[in-house]
Amino acid sequence: LASVEVNLANIPVGQAIKVMWRGKPVFIRHRTEREINEAEDVALNELVDPQTDDARVEKKEWLVVVGVCTHLGCIPMGTATGETRGDYDGWYCPCHGSHYDTSGRIRRGPAPLNLVVPEYEFLTDTSVRIG
Ligand code: FES
Repeated sequence: LASVEVNLANIPVGQAIKVMWRGKPVFIRHRTEREINEAEDVALNELVDPQTDDARVEKKEWLVVVGVCTHLGCIPMGTATGETRGDYDGWYCPCHGSHYDTSGRIRRGPAPLNLVVPEYEFLTDTSVRIG
């Protein structure tokens, strides 16, 4: 499937889902106010792969990233409720210990790059098309 439409209406604030797109997992997180602030408040010079949060999201409340670690391709933890989100409240890749923040940016560990933001577009306030 080239693109996939996802209904976001049932994802509570603070939770995330995983959908499959072109054979890869895509994580969609409904970010809390605190998570948004955390993502926005980081100085670019603290980042391994410097990107503003603004450049990575269409709507602040929603983070959409490809769920593949940029080190060697494992699927990071932090999407399912109760799973560890690592030291920066985003995702944690247990394969070799990469920590991603609430914008999906790499903050610690061997991964060289931020989680990839796929092409996507909001169709309504609560539905998004990925790809
Ligand atoms: Fe994720 Fe190595 S594959 S840290």
